[in-house]
Amino acid sequence: NWSMEDFIDMQIAKIREQVGDRKVLLGLSGGVDSSVVGVLLHKAIGDQLTSIFVDHGLLRKGEAEQVMESLGGKFGLNIIKVDAKERFMDKLAGVSDPEQKRKIIGNEFIRVFDDEATKLKGIDFLAQGTLYTDVIESGTDTAQTIKSHHNVGGLPEDMQFELIEPLNTLFKDEVRELGEKLGMPHELVWRQPFPGPGLGIRVIGEITEEKLQIVRDSDLILREEIAKHGLDKEIWQYFTVLPGIRSVGVMGDGRTYDYTVGIRAVTSIDGMTADFAKIPWDVLQEISVRIVNEVAHVNRVVYDITSKPPATIEWE
Ligand code: XMP
Repeated sequence: NWSMEDFIDMQIAKIREQVGDRKVLLGLSGGVDSSVVGVLLHKAIGDQLTSIFVDHGLLRKGEAEQVMESLGGKFGLNIIKVDAKERFMDKLAGVSDPEQKRKIIGNEFIRVFDDEATKLKGIDFLAQGTLYTDVIESGTDTAQTIKSHHNVGGLPEDMQFELIEPLNTLFKDEVRELGEKLGMPHELVWRQPFPGPGLGIRVIGEITEEKLQIVRDSDLILREEIAKHGLDKEIWQYFTVLPGIRSVGVMGDGRTYDYTVGIRAVTSIDGMTADFAKIPWDVLQEISVRIVNEVAHVNRVVYDITSKPPATIEWE
C-alpha cells in the first residue's frame, strides 16, 4: 500500500545504488513507457543516462519534434536523435505485405539502434519500459498470433548489458500516474496507443513518401478535431489510413481522380476487442471537409464502422 511518491523515492534510491557511477542507455520511442523511464532515470542519475531516439520517418506529424523539445529540452535528457528515414524507406521500397513490413521495420530499428549504441563507449546498463503486463505475458505469447507485434525497442541480440526495468511492477494506468507525478506533459502521458511500425501499417500496401504525407496530414486534422470537440478521452484510439485506392470526384468545373482516406476510431478497454466510436455526424462532417480541403490528392473520406472482431483496429 504505497503512494506514487514513495514509489518514485524508492526507485530513485534503487537505481542510484544499482548504477553507481556507471552509464545507462535507453531507447526512446516517443511512447509513454520509455518516456517515463527516461524522466525517472534522469531524475536519479542525470547525465549518466544517454538516450537514443530513432526517427524512422513513420511517426505522426510533430511527434519527433515533441520528443526532442519536451524530453530533451524541458526535462534535459541527453538524447541522440538518429534520422533514419532513408534507411527505412530504402528497406521498405516495393514491399506491400503487412507482416513483411512489420519484420523489416522491427529489424531495421534494432540495427539502427545497434549501430548507434556500439558507437558509445563504457555503457553497462540498458533501461527498458517493460510493464508488469509484459512480464506476465512473456513466454505465453498466444495473444498475438494474428499479427506479430514487433515493439520498437527490442534488445539487440549480441549486446551484453545489465537490464534496468523500473516499471516492471506497474500497470499502464500506474505508469501514467507516475508520469503525471514526474511533471510530464498531459499529451505525452495520456497519448493514445501507437504501434511500433507506426504509419508504416497505416499506408496500406507499398509505402511511398507521398502516401505517408497524406496519412500524416489527415491524421493531424483528425487529432485536432477530436481534441477540439473534447472526444479524446472517450475514444481509445483514432487515426487515419490510406487504402491506396483512388476514385472519381468533382472539384470546381473539373473531374478529379484522387485518394480515399479512411478514418478509424474505436472505444476499447485493452485493444483486444473494440467498438467503432459513435462520433457525432457533424464532427465527422467537419473532419471530412477539412481533410479534403487541406490535404492534397484526397477527394473522398470514409468512416470505418466495423468492430473488433471481426475487423482489427489497424487495417494491416
Ligand atoms: P489490432 O490491429 O491487432 O491492434 O486490433 C490492437 C492494438 O495493437 C496495436 N498494434 C501494434 N502495436 N506493433 C505494436 O507495437 C504492431 O505491429 C501493432 N499492430 C497493432 C494497435 O495499434 C492497437 O492498439
